Amino acid sequence: MTLPAATAERLRGAVLEGLLGTPKRLPSAYLYDTAGSALFESICELPEYYLTRAETEILQRHAPDMARRIGAGALLVEPGCGSGEKACMLLQHLREPVGFVPIEISTSALEGARRLLRERFPALPVHALQADFTASFTLPEVAAASRPVFFFPGSTLGNFDPANALSLLRRWRAMGSGALVGVDLRKDPDTLVAAYDDARGVTAAFNLNLLERINREFGADFDPGSFAHEAIWNATESRIEMHLRSRHAQTVRVDGQRLEFRAGETIHTENSYKYTVQGFADLARHAGWTLSGHWTDSGGRFAEYFLEP
Ligand code: AVJ
Repeated sequence: MTLPAATAERLRGAVLEGLLGTPKRLPSAYLYDTAGSALFESICELPEYYLTRAETEILQRHAPDMARRIGAGALLVEPGCGSGEKACMLLQHLREPVGFVPIEISTSALEGARRLLRERFPALPVHALQADFTASFTLPEVAAASRPVFFFPGSTLGNFDPANALSLLRRWRAMGSGALVGVDLRKDPDTLVAAYDDARGVTAAFNLNLLERINREFGADFDPGSFAHEAIWNATESRIEMHLRSRHAQTVRVDGQRLEFRAGETIHTENSYKYTVQGFADLARHAGWTLSGHWTDSGGRFAEYFLEP
């Protein structure tokens, strides 16, 4: 995971601000260092974590239909593309795409995606863009003469609170002629909590890895054994919250400062919002899009939405 210096600096600032604030919180983007990204890959394989399998099923089954709706000559733009594997599932069926724009904050992930795309689609122009897609970015010049279609799978949108999700979708509306967005559906709390608090403790390790990372990068002295992983369903906000709960009162040193924890106090580390089809349609409409179609998996757990102006 290689970050540009300015991005790393901004992330560091957000970490300190979050830990020193009340209630304590950490940016969920901080979960994805090298160890965290590997743990997330393992999460995707867990029996309880249905999201990735459900979305893969949707893409496998409906990519031809999605490609038909997108039409010929699109420029596929994927913010936070990761490995680029999901884009391949769609590009396989797209008619005469004019190019692919993978957007990644991490240089190493961007390189990996570029390599995979070159191998799978040697004739497809790839315009890799290193950027933090939550900040504003400019599409490469080809975009001006083509139809940019945003691809945002993986329920990444669920990590943003509704106001920020809205502003992302609005910004893409100003640049794009379509969007295909994959978001987890709201469902019974037991299924949701299990997906974020698995029996093998992989999600716990993913969450606790944040403390290891802060120890390393801030010379902090968190004892991960003194914190417990927690996944809570917040029905009012329609989100799963991940927390790290302090098992007892303790003082931790971070960046030369003393950080006090009461027994049971938590650090809020992630939100994962869950939408009903209607809720997502409303969000899209407020952002200036029309929901013109959606697909779900056979279990009705996850949805892929096609948005048009
Ligand atoms: C990668 C944001 C989709 O919210 O489900 C998995 C991250 N957190 N287990 C999600 C995550 C805990 C994941 N997303």
